[in-house]
Amino acid sequence: MALVMGLNSGSSFDGIDVVLVEIVNGRDGYPARPKFIRGTSYDWPGPVAGIVLRSFENKVSLFEFCRLNYLAGAVYAESARALMRDAGIKPGELEVIGFDGQTIYQEPPVHARLHDFDDGENLVGRWLDGPYGCGLQIGEPAIVAAACETPAVTHFRTMDHALGGTGAPLMQYLDYVAFRDIGPILTLNIGGIANCQLAHPDRAKMMAFDTGPGNVMIDHVMRALFGKPYDKNGDVARSGKVDQALMQKLKEHDFFKRPVPRSAWRLDFGSSYADWILADYSHLSKADMLATMTEFAAYAITRSITDNVKTIAEIKVIMASGGGTRNSYLMERLKDYMPKGLRLTTSNEFGIPPQFKEAIKFATLAHATVNHLANNIPAASGAVKFGILGKLVQPPRLAKA
Ligand SMILES: Nc1ncnc2c1ncn2[C@@H]1O[C@H](COP(=O)(O)OP(=O)(O)O)[C@@H](O)[C@H]1O
Ligand SMILES: [Mg+2]
Repeated sequence: MALVMGLNSGSSFDGIDVVLVEIVNGRDGYPARPKFIRGTSYDWPGPVAGIVLRSFENKVSLFEFCRLNYLAGAVYAESARALMRDAGIKPGELEVIGFDGQTIYQEPPVHARLHDFDDGENLVGRWLDGPYGCGLQIGEPAIVAAACETPAVTHFRTMDHALGGTGAPLMQYLDYVAFRDIGPILTLNIGGIANCQLAHPDRAKMMAFDTGPGNVMIDHVMRALFGKPYDKNGDVARSGKVDQALMQKLKEHDFFKRPVPRSAWRLDFGSSYADWILADYSHLSKADMLATMTEFAAYAITRSITDNVKTIAEIKVIMASGGGTRNSYLMERLKDYMPKGLRLTTSNEFGIPPQFKEAIKFATLAHATVNHLANNIPAASGAVKFGILGKLVQPPRLAKA
């Protein structure tokens, strides 16, 4: 049995979720469903959050950004140390701490052009003009490993990118591990961006793709119009009505034309896009704007699934997670949109608290990394082969001096 910590700060940038899980390997040598022990969330300190938000919009200098990487590492380290302290865990009792770092930038591969580079000869060309994916997560793991005296594994997406994969979403490995005994089943994580996975006992049949905005546009509009971070329970959206002209405009977004596996990022549905909508549709009431954004999130999730999961008729359950599950109006709209015969539930039903699933994912990925278990799903991400995602930083106490 391994005790593992996972941390996550996602695209909503609403805080750092930290969990402790127990992981036991199953008879096939792969981890069984992780057992959730405890979890908590910490805020980003204000001054650091301000710089991260500016960096999302490419508005910090490169030198400032270097310091931010260490600052973010210190924030992760304080969060990890706080949970260790609260749970009475000493260095040496934790197998590993897994976190990806805060994603600042994410660019998906151009799958149609990947085959031009598949002989491995032209490595520079893969990234010179863009067919391979790239991105960057910040939060220097050495600070975490040093402060917690525990191995830290981070940056899971880069190896998937090196193998031609999308690198995002990354939920598929946890979904394989946790649900291979009950699949096929769909999972849906509604964070800032939402993603969907087809979890299957046969990894070759798995899928993973972003569906478009989860909470990111709702949050942005709430911040701009009400000065609040999110639409609690969807109450504002519920009081408005959907504007059909804006809905039509949103449905024409280029994102839907991209083939899966596909990722979305703040560049697709971020503050620039939301600001443009707010300016162009300023005649709408605040509530109608929220109602339309919420409707669009439900529409984008459903359309992405029905457009891309060919075996949808054979699947009985879709299991949701992420902060978006707390938006009861969004969940109602989703239920309404979902194909008949597909039951919408939350990961709670399967022992995984919805708000902590992503942090549990990073714990599980890191456990696989240190045990040299393949933790990518090539069929789902488009990678050419199995690999070990994650970079390992060792704690000082393991040094043979
Ligand atoms: N009670 C609530 N009502 C409505 N929305 C909520 C509620 N609680 C959380 N959320 C939404 O969930 C988001 C956080 O979800 P999370 O899964 O942490 O996303 P991420 O992985 O992008 O950080 C918040 O920004 C907010 O939009
Ligand atoms: Mg979050």
